[in-house]
Amino acid sequence: MSVTINADERIRHPGLRQRVVSAEAAAAHIRDGMVVGMSGFTRAGEAKAVPMALAERAKTEPLKITLMTGASLGNDLDKTLAEAHVLSRRIPFQSDPALRRAINAGEVMFIDQHLSETVEQLRTRQIPAVDVAVIEAVAITETGGIVPTTSVGNSASFAILAEKVIVEINLNQPAGLEGLHDIYIPTYRPNRMPIPVVTPESRIGLPFIPIPPEKIAAIVVTEKLDSSSTILDPDADTRAIAGHLSEFLLHEVAQGRLDHTLQPLQAGIGTIANAVLHGFLDTPFHGLKMYSEVLQDSTFDLIDSGKMTFASGSSITLSAEKYRQVLPRLAEYKPKLILRPQEISNHPEVVRRLGLICINTALEFDIYGNVNSTHVMGTNMMNGIGGSGDFARNAYLSVFVTKSVAKHGHVSSVVPMVSHVDHTEHDVDILVTEIGLADLRGLAPRERAAVIIANCVHPQYRDALQDYYQRAVQRGGHTPHVLEEALSWHIRLRETGRMD
Ligand code: COA
Repeated sequence: MSVTINADERIRHPGLRQRVVSAEAAAAHIRDGMVVGMSGFTRAGEAKAVPMALAERAKTEPLKITLMTGASLGNDLDKTLAEAHVLSRRIPFQSDPALRRAINAGEVMFIDQHLSETVEQLRTRQIPAVDVAVIEAVAITETGGIVPTTSVGNSASFAILAEKVIVEINLNQPAGLEGLHDIYIPTYRPNRMPIPVVTPESRIGLPFIPIPPEKIAAIVVTEKLDSSSTILDPDADTRAIAGHLSEFLLHEVAQGRLDHTLQPLQAGIGTIANAVLHGFLDTPFHGLKMYSEVLQDSTFDLIDSGKMTFASGSSITLSAEKYRQVLPRLAEYKPKLILRPQEISNHPEVVRRLGLICINTALEFDIYGNVNSTHVMGTNMMNGIGGSGDFARNAYLSVFVTKSVAKHGHVSSVVPMVSHVDHTEHDVDILVTEIGLADLRGLAPRERAAVIIANCVHPQYRDALQDYYQRAVQRGGHTPHVLEEALSWHIRLRETGRMD
């Protein structure tokens, strides 16, 4: 009974209340072979009931879909859908081990895309159109507008471009989320108006997704919470990485190239980037702002400490403990936060114009500064490029961080040549490991190699890398290599399970 009353309060367009149906009935709008655009961005704000109903249905009838989202899904939905063999194609990002296995086995075709780009390609019909959008919402407005929950991701464009929309009203997502979102859709190219974001605080759109109410084909009422993030606490290595970066930025301030408020910050997903941002708590920087994609625990710690005054993102993804602290205090945080569509949070032109300091994570990088963020051994997909390319290519300062070794020291994260390139040397300014920092700005490849080998490589691998580089230099070239040996470290890893 109380659920019905709450749902009616959240569905403020009275004519839409009669469209409330079960998840199974809503999922019936999705048929075999369709393209489905679902809300959800790094475990935040995903549609929760309809995907489960699809996985259930796939047990008794043929059902394969192309699934587009903002980014990765929580509540094990990517796993459930992969194991139910519902996914034929998946766009543009994921981070689930079961789905990863299906992708690497060639069962699911994964289109690993810059996160700002998916809806541009949809809008111009360069990729197949969305048949049905499934969007988690905190409310439907009097005019039928959809108020998203903890992420915006690609939801706005999915809903606007889809034939039909299914809304999942989640009664456990706090009503106070309303007002946090800023929905702005760029006009069509080639005569697009400039996107009027001039500071991270700029509000340029609507607090809901505007669609004609008749497009809402079904509404499902849900109560499941977002699943919490899986990031680990900072450790000695990530603290050292944060320390090197802070020291470098202080040097930039001392040189008069930055002031103590720095430039707006972007920090990528994952344990290392979160820990690095956390490290700003122990620095003299203040008045910090974020113009990022995912707002993690560290964002709220920096806001609580008074060091950060504003954060713009596309999703809020927190640990369980942080959710418990933040959600009851939403009203307090709201004036300091904005959630935007990912094409705006990650927009290359805006990133370049605001001049962001972008901190993303590498799996490995090479002696010239090329970065691999996605492919283990150049072959197996980890998560995807996500927004790292949107930001790195256009940053004021493009920083990549990683621990110098992986797999208990058996893998060096600095190698002669990366086995896959996501970010070329041209897009990388600063590399940081727990060993030290390499400032590559203004350096030619031979100079870059000297700085990277001296500053970033684990001592266990330094001599071997130095030896490789010296022999490469004897052969000559602008970017010297011993081609027949360039991937020998990876081949050794494949054959023996270790690079050392
Ligand atoms: N070779 C093989 N495996 C490696 C490796 C290497 N060179 N370097 C790291 N790994 C493994 C780690 O051992 C770990 O494995 P496990 O899960 O089995 O323990 C895994 O990769 C993750 O590494 P971790 O050190 O825990 O880092 P992370 O959680 O910070 O994630 C990325 C690192 C690169 C996978 C992650 O940041 C990512 O997906 N980045 C691309 C997307 C992106 O940057 N988006 C940013 C915009 S928001």
